[in-house]
Amino acid sequence: MSFKRIGIINSGGDCPGLNAVIASVVKSGAELGYEFYGFIKGWEGLLDPIQFMKLDPDAVRGIAHLGGTILGTVNKGRFGAKAGEGNSRQIPEDVLHEARDNCKALGLSGLIVIGGDGTLSGALQLMEAGVPIVGVPKTIDNDLQHTDRTFGFSTATQVAVDALDRVHTTATSHQRMIFVETMGRHAGWIAIRAGLAGGADAILIPEFPFALEDLVAMLQRRQAEGRSATIVVAEGAKVHGQRVHEGEALDREVKLGGIAQYLIRAIEEMVPDEFDMRATVLGHIQRGGTPTAGDRALAKAYGVAAMRAFDQGKYGQMVIYHNAGMGSISLADAVGSIKLVCPNTMEYETARALGVFVH
Ligand code: F6P
Repeated sequence: MSFKRIGIINSGGDCPGLNAVIASVVKSGAELGYEFYGFIKGWEGLLDPIQFMKLDPDAVRGIAHLGGTILGTVNKGRFGAKAGEGNSRQIPEDVLHEARDNCKALGLSGLIVIGGDGTLSGALQLMEAGVPIVGVPKTIDNDLQHTDRTFGFSTATQVAVDALDRVHTTATSHQRMIFVETMGRHAGWIAIRAGLAGGADAILIPEFPFALEDLVAMLQRRQAEGRSATIVVAEGAKVHGQRVHEGEALDREVKLGGIAQYLIRAIEEMVPDEFDMRATVLGHIQRGGTPTAGDRALAKAYGVAAMRAFDQGKYGQMVIYHNAGMGSISLADAVGSIKLVCPNTMEYETARALGVFVH
């Protein structure tokens, strides 16, 4: 017997536009005669004790413009499919079976799973254990392969540009060197795009390690000209090939953060009392709050595309936005590698041509 009931799971960090994806899956699916169970706190809600809410068009009315997710989320738990950077983890068989059996007991014909690399790696394993799944890419970092843009990225970038505009006037007034730290664990998409749009003087990203001496030389040149500087630094940027972080996260990847302060200390040590420096860490304000128009429209398109793919039986696929249209690729191809900024990335080339320190 085939059921017209789908489970919706969002897992991992929240992302502006998540509610818009959920709402458009539910609204477009209801038109096709489906009903929905939304699992609370990601995979945890699908495992015992099961926790879900019934979703219908009334339940999702008026949420598309809201940040966060009505389902709640976690980026740790029993379903963790990433054991650290680049390392996939086999989810224990009993956990996979529990999730599969619960889907069956709830009469689900399958799941629509909204998540990043880790969540979708888990989805792939559950799919292989017998649950039909369609994936939706989700990350503010925009670092998933095969999709040109993830929802949430535009909002995060706009937050960073707004911050840069504000930092710029105060840096100029005081002739200060101000570091603005953005998110961007493996890839510097937010930093490079915001830095370019916001007129940063230096953009430091994980893909292009730099030497501190070169950065200091650039700051010295500006200081000699009587100018300030704004420096955008992605949390995952590497100084002399090393990342800076606060410590280990619970059961996932290391918790990043602190590179802006680290750079200030390192520069102060190298050339004491030469610059007046400050750091601003944008952190989770990039992830919270109202999604931009672009993110809402994109999130709605992802939701409709996922629902359509599910209805067409395209299980094991992740929907993508590519060449200005929606499509899909296999989940197996989607996970496992990250999309990085490279020398021919439009933003990178443009920043270099404009004399920005991007290295
Ligand atoms: O993956 C998205 C991201 O925003 C990363 O850039 C960042 O390192 C991470 O989430 C932080 O997540 P949390 O604070 O929720 O652990």
